[in-house]
Amino acid sequence: MITELPGSNLALIGFMAAGKTSVGVALSLRTGLPFRDVDAAIQKAEGKSIHEIFASQGEDYFRSREGAIFRDLCAGFGQIIGCGGGTLVSPENRAILKARCYSIWLKTSQPEILRRIEAPGAPVRPLVEGADPRLIVPGLLKRREPFYGGAELIIDTDQRTVEEVVEAICLSLGWIEGSGA
Ligand code: S3P
Repeated sequence: MITELPGSNLALIGFMAAGKTSVGVALSLRTGLPFRDVDAAIQKAEGKSIHEIFASQGEDYFRSREGAIFRDLCAGFGQIIGCGGGTLVSPENRAILKARCYSIWLKTSQPEILRRIEAPGAPVRPLVEGADPRLIVPGLLKRREPFYGGAELIIDTDQRTVEEVVEAICLSLGWIEGSGA
Protein backbone atom coordinates (compact mmCIF):
# COMPACT_ATOMS: atom_id res chain seq x y z
CA MET A 1 0.00 0.00 0.00
CA ILE A 2 1.26 3.52 -0.74
CA THR A 3 1.43 5.24 2.57
CA GLU A 4 2.89 8.59 1.83
CA LEU A 5 2.03 10.61 4.89
CA PRO A 6 0.35 13.99 4.53
CA GLY A 7 2.41 15.23 7.51
CA SER A 8 5.41 14.24 9.61
CA ASN A 9 3.15 11.93 11.63
CA LEU A 10 -0.49 10.89 11.69
CA ALA A 11 -2.30 11.62 14.96
CA LEU A 12 -5.53 9.95 15.98
CA ILE A 13 -7.52 12.28 18.20
CA GLY A 14 -10.94 12.12 19.79
CA PHE A 15 -12.86 11.55 23.00
CA MET A 16 -12.50 8.58 25.35
CA ALA A 17 -13.79 5.39 23.74
CA ALA A 18 -13.52 6.78 20.20
CA GLY A 19 -11.32 3.79 19.35
CA LYS A 20 -8.00 5.64 18.99
CA THR A 21 -5.91 2.73 20.28
CA SER A 22 -7.80 -0.04 18.46
CA VAL A 23 -7.78 1.92 15.20
CA GLY A 24 -4.11 2.84 15.67
CA VAL A 25 -3.11 -0.81 16.10
CA ALA A 26 -5.21 -1.93 13.12
CA LEU A 27 -3.99 0.94 10.91
CA SER A 28 -0.42 0.07 11.85
CA LEU A 29 -0.94 -3.56 10.84
CA ARG A 30 -2.51 -2.46 7.58
CA THR A 31 0.12 0.09 6.64
CA GLY A 32 3.28 -1.10 8.35
CA LEU A 33 3.65 2.33 9.97
CA PRO A 34 4.61 2.12 13.65
CA PHE A 35 1.91 2.95 16.18
CA ARG A 36 2.77 4.90 19.32
CA ASP A 37 0.11 5.35 21.94
CA VAL A 38 0.47 8.28 24.35
CA ASP A 39 -1.25 6.50 27.25
CA ALA A 40 0.83 3.35 26.74
CA ALA A 41 4.04 5.41 26.64
CA ILE A 42 3.08 7.18 29.91
CA GLN A 43 2.36 3.85 31.58
CA LYS A 44 5.69 2.44 30.41
CA ALA A 45 7.65 5.50 31.53
CA GLU A 46 5.99 5.58 34.95
CA GLY A 47 5.75 1.82 35.49
CA LYS A 48 2.10 2.31 36.52
CA SER A 49 -1.32 2.14 34.95
CA ILE A 50 -3.09 5.39 34.04
CA HIS A 51 -5.51 4.56 36.81
CA GLU A 52 -2.70 4.28 39.38
CA ILE A 53 -1.06 7.52 38.19
CA PHE A 54 -4.33 9.43 38.62
CA ALA A 55 -4.92 7.82 42.02
CA SER A 56 -1.43 8.30 43.45
CA GLN A 57 -0.13 11.49 41.80
CA GLY A 58 -3.26 13.21 40.57
CA GLU A 59 -4.42 14.62 37.26
CA ASP A 60 -1.99 17.57 37.11
CA TYR A 61 0.98 15.21 37.30
CA PHE A 62 -0.59 12.96 34.65
CA ARG A 63 -1.11 15.97 32.36
CA SER A 64 2.51 17.10 32.72
CA ARG A 65 3.77 13.60 31.84
CA GLU A 66 1.27 13.41 28.98
CA GLY A 67 2.56 16.72 27.55
CA ALA A 68 6.22 15.69 27.80
CA ILE A 69 5.62 12.29 26.23
CA PHE A 70 3.42 13.68 23.48
CA ARG A 71 6.15 16.22 22.63
CA ASP A 72 8.80 13.47 22.50
CA LEU A 73 6.67 11.23 20.29
CA CYS A 74 5.88 14.09 17.93
CA ALA A 75 9.58 14.79 17.45
CA GLY A 76 9.74 11.55 15.43
CA PHE A 77 8.58 10.95 11.86
CA GLY A 78 6.38 8.52 10.01
CA GLN A 79 4.40 7.24 12.97
CA ILE A 80 0.76 6.86 13.86
CA ILE A 81 0.31 8.57 17.25
CA GLY A 82 -2.71 7.71 19.38
CA CYS A 83 -3.51 10.65 21.65
CA GLY A 84 -5.38 10.49 24.94
CA GLY A 85 -8.85 12.02 25.01
CA GLY A 86 -7.51 14.99 26.98
CA THR A 87 -4.17 15.53 25.23
CA LEU A 88 -5.46 18.48 23.20
CA VAL A 89 -6.84 20.40 26.16
CA SER A 90 -3.34 21.87 26.49
CA PRO A 91 -2.63 24.76 24.07
CA GLU A 92 1.03 23.65 23.89
CA ASN A 93 -0.02 20.19 22.79
CA ARG A 94 -2.36 21.65 20.19
CA ALA A 95 0.51 23.72 18.77
CA ILE A 96 2.76 20.64 18.62
CA LEU A 97 -0.01 18.64 16.97
CA LYS A 98 -0.43 21.32 14.33
CA ALA A 99 3.28 21.57 13.65
CA ARG A 100 4.13 17.87 13.63
CA CYS A 101 1.04 15.84 12.72
CA TYR A 102 -1.71 15.39 10.21
CA SER A 103 -4.64 14.93 12.57
CA ILE A 104 -7.58 12.60 12.22
CA TRP A 105 -10.56 13.05 14.53
CA LEU A 106 -12.29 9.78 15.26
CA LYS A 107 -15.67 11.35 15.84
CA THR A 108 -18.14 9.58 18.08
CA SER A 109 -21.57 10.81 19.15
CA GLN A 110 -22.40 11.32 22.81
CA PRO A 111 -24.89 8.41 23.00
CA GLU A 112 -22.34 6.09 21.39
CA ILE A 113 -19.56 7.25 23.78
CA LEU A 114 -21.85 6.56 26.75
CA ARG A 115 -22.78 3.17 25.34
CA ARG A 116 -19.12 2.20 24.93
CA ILE A 117 -18.05 3.55 28.34
CA GLU A 118 -20.90 1.77 30.10
CA ALA A 119 -20.56 -1.51 28.19
CA PRO A 120 -19.93 -4.53 30.43
CA GLY A 121 -16.19 -5.15 30.70
CA ALA A 122 -15.24 -1.68 29.41
CA PRO A 123 -12.06 -0.32 31.06
CA VAL A 124 -12.58 1.96 34.06
CA ARG A 125 -11.73 5.49 33.02
CA PRO A 126 -10.33 7.74 35.75
CA LEU A 127 -12.32 10.82 34.70
CA VAL A 128 -15.66 9.05 35.10
CA GLU A 129 -14.74 6.61 37.84
CA GLY A 130 -17.12 6.58 40.79
CA ALA A 131 -19.46 9.01 39.05
CA ASP A 132 -22.33 8.84 36.63
CA PRO A 133 -20.79 9.21 33.13
CA ARG A 134 -24.05 10.80 32.01
CA LEU A 135 -23.33 13.75 34.29
CA ILE A 136 -19.71 14.14 33.19
CA VAL A 137 -19.44 13.22 29.52
CA PRO A 138 -21.74 15.92 28.07
CA GLY A 139 -19.78 18.84 29.60
CA LEU A 140 -16.36 17.34 28.80
CA LEU A 141 -17.39 16.58 25.24
CA LYS A 142 -18.75 20.08 24.73
CA ARG A 143 -15.51 21.64 25.96
CA ARG A 144 -13.29 19.34 23.93
CA GLU A 145 -15.10 19.06 20.61
CA PRO A 146 -13.79 22.43 19.39
CA PHE A 147 -10.24 21.09 19.86
CA TYR A 148 -10.96 17.87 17.99
CA GLY A 149 -12.82 19.86 15.34
CA GLY A 150 -9.55 21.44 14.16
CA ALA A 151 -8.54 18.06 12.68
CA GLU A 152 -7.58 17.82 9.05
CA LEU A 153 -9.70 14.72 8.56
CA ILE A 154 -12.87 13.73 10.39
CA ILE A 155 -13.99 10.11 10.38
CA ASP A 156 -17.28 9.09 11.96
CA THR A 157 -16.93 6.01 14.12
CA ASP A 158 -20.59 5.45 15.09
CA GLN A 159 -21.92 2.34 13.34
CA ARG A 160 -18.46 1.42 12.11
CA THR A 161 -16.18 -1.41 13.14
CA VAL A 162 -12.50 -0.77 13.71
CA GLU A 163 -11.74 -2.28 10.29
CA GLU A 164 -14.31 -0.02 8.63
CA VAL A 165 -12.76 3.03 10.28
CA VAL A 166 -9.32 1.95 9.03
CA GLU A 167 -10.78 1.47 5.56
CA ALA A 168 -12.33 4.94 5.65
CA ILE A 169 -9.01 6.51 6.67
CA CYS A 170 -7.10 4.67 3.93
CA LEU A 171 -9.68 5.72 1.35
CA SER A 172 -9.66 9.35 2.48
CA LEU A 173 -5.88 9.49 2.31
CA GLY A 174 -5.89 7.96 -1.16
CA TRP A 175 -4.00 4.87 0.02
CA ILE A 176 -6.64 2.54 -1.45
CA GLU A 177 -9.29 2.97 -4.08
CA GLY A 178 -13.01 2.72 -3.42
CA SER A 179 -14.98 -0.18 -4.88
CA GLY A 180 -17.23 2.34 -6.58
CA ALA A 181 -20.21 0.42 -5.22
C1 S3P B 1 -8.37 10.90 29.34
C2 S3P B 1 -8.48 9.88 28.44
C3 S3P B 1 -7.74 8.63 28.57
C4 S3P B 1 -6.48 8.80 29.42
C5 S3P B 1 -6.80 9.46 30.70
C6 S3P B 1 -7.45 10.84 30.50
C7 S3P B 1 -9.14 12.14 29.12
O1 S3P B 1 -7.37 8.15 27.28
O2 S3P B 1 -5.52 9.56 28.73
O3 S3P B 1 -7.66 8.63 31.41
O4 S3P B 1 -8.79 13.18 29.68
O5 S3P B 1 -10.12 12.09 28.34
P1 S3P B 1 -8.43 7.54 26.21
O6 S3P B 1 -9.00 8.69 25.45
O7 S3P B 1 -7.58 6.67 25.37
O8 S3P B 1 -9.47 6.79 26.99
